[in-house]
Order: sequence, then C-alpha cells, then structure tokens
Amino acid sequence: MILRYLVIEGIAISSVLGSLAPGSAISSGLADDVLKIQGGKILSGQVTISGAKNSALALMAGTLLCSETCQLQNVPSLVDIRLMTKILTALGVRVTTNGDVVQFDPSHLTSTEAPYELVSKMRGSFFILGPLLARMGEARVPMPGGCSIGSRPVDLHVRGLQSLGADVTIEHGVVHARAKNGKRLVGASVYLDSPSVGATENIMMAATLADGETIIENAAQEPEIVDLAGFCNAMGAKIQGAGTHRIVIQGVEKLHATDYRVIPDRVEAATFILAGAITRSTILVNQINLSHIAPILAKLKEIGIGYEIESPTSLRVMRSASYRGTDIETLPHPGFPTDVQSPFMSLLALADGNSVVTETLFENRFMHVAELTRMGADIKVKGNVAMIRGVASLSGAPVIATDLRASAALVIAGLAADGETIVSGLHHMDRGYDRLEAKMQGLGANLIRTTIAQSNA
Ligand code: UD1
Repeated sequence: MILRYLVIEGIAISSVLGSLAPGSAISSGLADDVLKIQGGKILSGQVTISGAKNSALALMAGTLLCSETCQLQNVPSLVDIRLMTKILTALGVRVTTNGDVVQFDPSHLTSTEAPYELVSKMRGSFFILGPLLARMGEARVPMPGGCSIGSRPVDLHVRGLQSLGADVTIEHGVVHARAKNGKRLVGASVYLDSPSVGATENIMMAATLADGETIIENAAQEPEIVDLAGFCNAMGAKIQGAGTHRIVIQGVEKLHATDYRVIPDRVEAATFILAGAITRSTILVNQINLSHIAPILAKLKEIGIGYEIESPTSLRVMRSASYRGTDIETLPHPGFPTDVQSPFMSLLALADGNSVVTETLFENRFMHVAELTRMGADIKVKGNVAMIRGVASLSGAPVIATDLRASAALVIAGLAADGETIVSGLHHMDRGYDRLEAKMQGLGANLIRTTIAQSNA
C-alpha cells in the first residue's frame, strides 16, 4: 500500500472536527496533524482564558439530573466537549450550541446506555454514571478511556454508588448500575480511600436526588468540585461543604432549570503563564481565577519569575531574564496540580540549577521527558521522581505528544527552543485546549498547524 500525503498549512482542525462523522480518522483524532514552532520569539500582548474543560464536562453530565432545560455559559470549544455533547445526545438530551453558550434539554431521555465508541475516548465521560443512575434508576456506562497516564481505576466511583444503594456489576467492559429499591438511591455515609475528583463528582451528583442525607468524607477539594456543587445548587440541589474534605448533600425530589457560567480553566491559565515565563516575555493573562492557580503562583515566585496582579481576574507575567530550579510534588488540590506538572517541567529544564519533580497521582505521567530530552533537556527519571539539571538552551526537534498535558509541555518547550520544533500527536492537545495555536499566535508566537491528510493510492 502506498500512502500519499496532502499537506494543508494552517487548517484549524477543531473546526474540521465538528463537521465529521464519529469514527472517521480525523474526528477520532487520528489525523497526522503537526504543529511547527519556530522558537525564540518573545511573546507580547494579552490572552483570554476559556472555560474549564474538566468543570464543563462534569456540569454537562450534571444536566442529566434535571428534567428542564439548563444553560451553560463559557463552555470551551474542544474535542472532549464535542464528545460529551455526542454522548448526551445519544441519551436523548437535546443540545443547542451558540458559541460558548450551550443549552441542554434533558426532558426526554431515551436511553440509559452510553455508546462505547464515544465513552472509550474520554475519561470524563464516566461522570454520566451517577446522574443517569440517580435520574433513571439505571445506567450502563462502558469503562472510560482518556489519556494513557496510568491505570485510572473506577473502584471509588463504584463503591460510592454501592453505598447509596446501587447494585453495580461490571461485565464485558461495561459498568451496569441499578438502584436497588426501584427508582431512587438512598443517602449514606461514603468515605473515599483517596480524594478522587471524578468519584467525588459522580457520588455528589447521584446523592442530589437520593432519599435523605449523604456525607462524602475525604472528598476531593478541587475548584471543579466547587463549580459542580454551585451548578447543582443553582438547579435546586442542597449541597454544603464543597471545597472541603466533607461534603453534605440533602437529597431533593427534583431539580429545576438554571443558567450557569463555567469557571475559567486553571490548567490553560497556567499553560499561558508558563509560555510567557519560558520565553522571557511580558504578557497579560485575562479571565482567570487567581485563587485556583495559587500553587502555581507560589512556585513561580519561589523560582524568581515575576508577575503582577492586574485585577481580580488578570495577571501580568513579567519578563524574567533568569530563574532558579525548585522541587515540586504533585498533590490533590490545594497542592500542586498534576495537570501542570509536565508544562512546568519544560520551564524547569531551562532553569539555573537543579530541580526534582515527584508525581504522586498518576504512575505514567513522565512520557514527555523522553521528548524533552530529545530537545536537549537533562532529565533523569527514577520511578515517580524526575531529576532535572537546568540547561542553557533547548534545540528544536521533531517530538511526539503522548497525552494532553504532555502536548502543552512540548509546545512550551518549542516556543523557547532554538530553531524549529515539530510537535505531532496533536489530537491530544485538541482534546483539552481551546484554540491553543490561535491564542499563541495572538501573542506573537511563531507556530502553524500543518494537516497531513493520508490517501491510499
Ligand atoms: C481528574 C481530571 C484530571 C486530573 C485529575 C487529578 C477530569 C476529566 N480529569 O481526573 O485532569 O489530572 O482529576 O486532579 O476531571 N483513583 C482510584 N480509583 C478510582 C478513581 C481514582 O484509584 O475510582 C486514583 C487514580 O488512579 C489516580 C488518583 O486516584 O491515581 C486521582 O484520580 P482522580 O482524582 O479520580 O482523577 P480523575 O477524576 O480521573
């Protein structure tokens, strides 16, 4: 078989994605897109951060709890959101998108079974299990997919829902949950062995429509949990304590329509702040929540990257000619977020001095290291610890993005490297970043997407 390649410079693949059928090579993210980055450009100007992917996915699942139309604002435009839209549509939800405002009419659900070909592509799709079970008394959701950053079990989700009175079986890769006593779950005390974000979200949503009180102990405290509780409460749920380790939910009969704005994406905010820092630039990052990125700002201050708070929702990264290395350990919120570990490592690769990065949440989240090493970084990995000796410069090279946040690490490294970096595996980036290359171009970065379409001859 001979493969012919058609190279189309600068096509916005995200717009292409919206128009293709599920399962086609491009819509499933298999197109051979690359990002060509000419490094060494000083960035300037300002960038506006989109709504949080992880929050929007949970809120979209949460719309299943309600039988009236809900509206979400500030929904980012990215592949995972389009996948979740397709999953909800397959369940009978009528979804209407108008820019970043999306309406969900879940009044006539037609199915309690999520399609495997959609769910298998994204971890966040598993969020539908709790709300679907709570609303319909039954749900069938295939085991989720997503980034290959570790084994990512769902035992905490399952045990939590079992505590609420669900019968749960896992057969042929599908999780099948049924409310024992007919239609409604029953409030209970749930202790999470570890503060899983997804399990907290699934159990919290399920408990909103359960009979009586549910208490989640050792709950995750991430801003996305607080946002989901805010959305559920806006629909009439009674949730207290979100953002702490103890969440108390009084079950209600039903929820009502609401209009709600998704929080800014703290990982996207961190990515742009790091892009400014690594290119020794001064840029303004707008529409952020400063308290959500406090662990990042603390580390930037520690290593000597200057910034100024311009307003409660914007921050100016100041040009810093040099900065020091530091040690980082990823932890559940309010610790340093695992999702920012890889892009922060690109920054540390160019620091004065040594750094140690310890990844405590996911066992396979150093896949960007081999690629950064190809660009001249001096990084050694032992188990879940990466030891980084800062180097004076990186050199552009062809590199492969292996997961969502690794793609951000490589783009950031490419911006600072000498010469051309060609990042492939862009389907990972498209899953979670809203128009990343357009926003980078807006800051003056010299990068362009190249689509290589394959055709058999
Ligand atoms: C969410 C985020 C992801 C982020 C992560 C940690 C979404 C869509 N994704 O993922 O970007 O990196 O939080 O902040 O919101 N675990 C179990 N059993 C379970 C569930 C989790 O052992 O049932 C383990 C996981 O393997 C992992 C740790 O708990 O080691 C944290 O996972 P969790 O907080 O659940 O992350 P996600 O919700 O999958």
